[in-house]
Amino acid sequence: MEPHDAAAEAHPNIALVKYWGNRDDSLRIPSNGSISMTLAGLRTVTRVRFDPNLARDRLKIDRRAAGPAELARATSFLDHIRIRAGLEWPAEIESVSNFPAGSGLASSASAFAALAVAGSAAAGLELSDQELSRLARRGSGSACRSLFGGFVEWLPGTGDDDSYAEPISGPDHWALVDLVAVVTTAAKDVGSSDGHRLAPTSPIQAARVADTSRRLEACRQAIRARDFARLAEVVEEDSHLMHAVMQTSSPPLFYWSADSVRVMHQVRTWRQAGLATCYTLDAGANVHCLAGPDSADEVARRLENLPGVQQVLRAGVGDGPRLLDHAEAASALL
Ligand code: DP6
Repeated sequence: MEPHDAAAEAHPNIALVKYWGNRDDSLRIPSNGSISMTLAGLRTVTRVRFDPNLARDRLKIDRRAAGPAELARATSFLDHIRIRAGLEWPAEIESVSNFPAGSGLASSASAFAALAVAGSAAAGLELSDQELSRLARRGSGSACRSLFGGFVEWLPGTGDDDSYAEPISGPDHWALVDLVAVVTTAAKDVGSSDGHRLAPTSPIQAARVADTSRRLEACRQAIRARDFARLAEVVEEDSHLMHAVMQTSSPPLFYWSADSVRVMHQVRTWRQAGLATCYTLDAGANVHCLAGPDSADEVARRLENLPGVQQVLRAGVGDGPRLLDHAEAASALL
């Protein structure tokens, strides 16, 4: 029998209203809904080859053999696809991202979105976008949002069937820019999956979850009206709330560094002086600085001159995933 293979690319996303904490950890049913912007330019390319001649799954990430925990996570994800397709063959997976993994840059979102699209295609499954979003969610919650371009909302749902993302508006709706002030590329100590489990130990989590519909509505309205001032307010508030939960969990998770805090202060000062910019941080020290279309160049220039900022990555609003042909996949994975 011939091996079955397919390759796909997907983009990471930055959450404007964050996902933190699950009501069901194994199914990744989140405690609250979230909204994100899909990021252009940053991408993961993944090729999956189901091959009856392999003894077990193999996984290469960024051209190196993956560790046992990463391989186990990929295997249990592919099992969802194998069961659905009635396929028992092991797979070889190769995945390459063009941005640093493990530093709060949401590499798991683009990784599992690309793996869902490539893996299901390689297995011969024809899934709708909603089914792909549900599938990607099983690998990493935030990945369900990377199934769509533009501005995207994850409807939390109550179970596997009704927890998936859908687009709010396409990539051309608003030319926002995410300028990632990279202050570290070191892998974080506690990854998101372990962090989600700690969320309920913070007394702040219940209040944060209870208030989510207000923040989601403010964020949707700001996006629809392209109202940067309103977006800035809700994005920073939401980031502070999530980090307040993290910092008051037991044990506490403290992702900010002194360099992150310096960037946050500067961004607020710049906004007060009239620049359309605001910040948000995921589970890492790097600071995502959003900027309006006319402010992006100036914000990037200022960030580059701040002490502690090693690099500024620039990402516009990106598209959803797409399947790649052999030549495109081969050149990306080289
Ligand atoms: C802080 O999606 O990485 O980036 O489902 O365990 O893979 P797992 O978690 P993950 O959590 C993302 C957390 C966040 C906020 C967000 O993207 O909404």
